[in-house]
Amino acid sequence: MKFLKNITKENLPVHIAIIMDGNGRWAKKKGNKRIFGHKNGVKAVKQTVEAAGEAGIKYLTLYAFSSENWNRPKIEVDALMTLLISAVKNETENLMNSNVRVKAIGNISALPESVTENLNQIINKTKNNTGLTLILALSYSARNEITNAVKQIASEIVSGKIKPETINENTISDRLYTHNIPDPELLIRTSGEYRLSNFLLWQISYTELYFTDTLWPDFKKEDLFKAIYDFQQRERRFGKTSEQIKAKN
Ligand code: FPP
Repeated sequence: MKFLKNITKENLPVHIAIIMDGNGRWAKKKGNKRIFGHKNGVKAVKQTVEAAGEAGIKYLTLYAFSSENWNRPKIEVDALMTLLISAVKNETENLMNSNVRVKAIGNISALPESVTENLNQIINKTKNNTGLTLILALSYSARNEITNAVKQIASEIVSGKIKPETINENTISDRLYTHNIPDPELLIRTSGEYRLSNFLLWQISYTELYFTDTLWPDFKKEDLFKAIYDFQQRERRFGKTSEQIKAKN
């Protein structure tokens, strides 16, 4: 089945988030080093960004590097940083031509200066683009993000800027990295792992989860379309009954 032509424009997920997993295993299967998997992972990123644009998705968040990933061997961390820099440099023109706006979430200041410089350049250059918004989660940890929001709220209470009784869900959402981004409606994880790995924990309360055994470097346009198609077959109830949802349509 060709999934793209079976996707309806009316019911597209506005925001898709992806946990790109399986680069290491993909390389191992081919008798290669882990970094070979990451290099091919970048190719899958390109395919996915293009596919998201073609399908009319507005926001795509990619978990490119978690806070926990700093604990990997230095050689792998360094190689991932180098890959990030080269991907950002090599893709700037393409992303401009495709009207993609790049953003980053996470503890960006923890990244090497060479990465932040290139990242800030692409963010600035693409900031007025109006097509897909591509959000790179880098040195990202959801618990850390929520903890920082709590700290900020606490200091705003101390300074008298907000009162404890006025705190609601928006008080928290507004202080997350994603404050101006709608919550993901679809979360994809590749490589047959069924975990959230500290990714967007607040934002995915009502997100549809999609797991595939495909290893990230093998993830192609058609895989994204298939996930979107699968999403469109689901009934999203938000705590209501199926009858209530059907009566509304
Ligand atoms: C998970 O596979 C992948 C990562 C930790 C890194 C993802 C990075 C890229 C695809 C490249 C750079 C990204 C951009 C946006 C240009 P794994 O290493 O955990 O695989 P394994 O579970 O098989 O060991």
